[in-house]
Amino acid sequence: MRLLITGGAGFIGANFVHSSVRVHPEDSLTVLDAMTYAGSRESLAAVENDIRLVQGDITDAELANKLVAESDAVVHFAAETHVDNALADPEPFLRANVIGTFTVLEAVRAHGVRLHHVSTDEVYGDLELGNARRFTESTPYNPSSPYSSTKAASDMLVRAWVRSYGVRATISNCSNNYGPYQHVEKFIPRQITNVLTGRRPKLYGSGTNVRDWIHVDDHNSAVRRILADGQIGRTYLIGAEEERDNLSVMRAILRLMDRDPDDFDHVADRAGHDLRYAIDPSALYDELGWAPKHTDFEDGLRATIDWYRDNETWWGPLKDATEAKYEGRGQ
Ligand SMILES: NC(=O)c1ccc[n+]([C@@H]2O[C@H](COP(=O)([O-])OP(=O)(O)OC[C@H]3O[C@@H](n4cnc5c(N)ncnc54)[C@H](O)[C@@H]3O)[C@@H](O)[C@H]2O)c1
Repeated sequence: MRLLITGGAGFIGANFVHSSVRVHPEDSLTVLDAMTYAGSRESLAAVENDIRLVQGDITDAELANKLVAESDAVVHFAAETHVDNALADPEPFLRANVIGTFTVLEAVRAHGVRLHHVSTDEVYGDLELGNARRFTESTPYNPSSPYSSTKAASDMLVRAWVRSYGVRATISNCSNNYGPYQHVEKFIPRQITNVLTGRRPKLYGSGTNVRDWIHVDDHNSAVRRILADGQIGRTYLIGAEEERDNLSVMRAILRLMDRDPDDFDHVADRAGHDLRYAIDPSALYDELGWAPKHTDFEDGLRATIDWYRDNETWWGPLKDATEAKYEGRGQ
């Protein structure tokens, strides 16, 4: 299969490329990535001879058209993804997430190419703390942030292009990912690299917000299953049933790094901070026979800490500027 992977130099996309090279060497892979601050050639260095890397923007219709025409399927990861950046300046999120997805949709429509659109559980808004409700495929969209609202908009475009134009697309909405190659602006790598650089880890508010964690390789194996056997027009929720509040994750990181579990600072909470996300992945389990492999969160966290410890050359150049930005916001 000739696969076009948008955003393949970002966190999840790069891990998808690595696992594709490993598990599906028969595929021919093209990455289209604008190399924003979140994209990194370094993340693909180990597979650079196995792929074609095109630096370009998904809103460039001519380029998108050309690359889509040469592909059998598109896996669409490219997006602006950091909620705090969206709060500070939403415009790039509108452009990349909404216009970008529109441009990809028009290209797959023109060339009859299969699309898998990668989205987030944040489109559903949040759940109350302390009850058992979880998101399902029929939960109404209720996004809270400029990030999640632009992802919700992109999902709606995909649904409309399936219905109106017969585009062959599937959508997945996944919970919070962790693993190697995640930018140090994100919660887990930020705390790990704070410890590694002698800074104190930072927790938003009281840390009661709950996230449902999944290892990035499990997210990507689910995307592969859906790409192979998912029903066109369907939305699948991807999750590994690992709900944890941020305070517990912070303490687990500190413990695994041989630090006092209370050795961190509380900082100003994120505006409109979603309380709890939780995915009911049973449709994916039952219909596609998928299951996560990384079922011990602390094992996955330990491996992630080891990866950051061993790969300072990858994240080191990003760290000071990222922390300076947080400091400017009092966080
Ligand atoms: N990280 C998570 O926990 C999570 C969870 C669920 C869903 N998602 C979704 O998965 C996808 C990938 O997320 P991530 O965490 O890897 O993000 P990321 O920010 O690490 O990577 C995004 C990549 O997209 C590229 N990009 C951005 N705008 C572009 C444009 N206009 N044209 C081409 N490339 C562009 C960037 O250069 C970067 O390489 C996103 O669609 C996100 O909404 C992420």
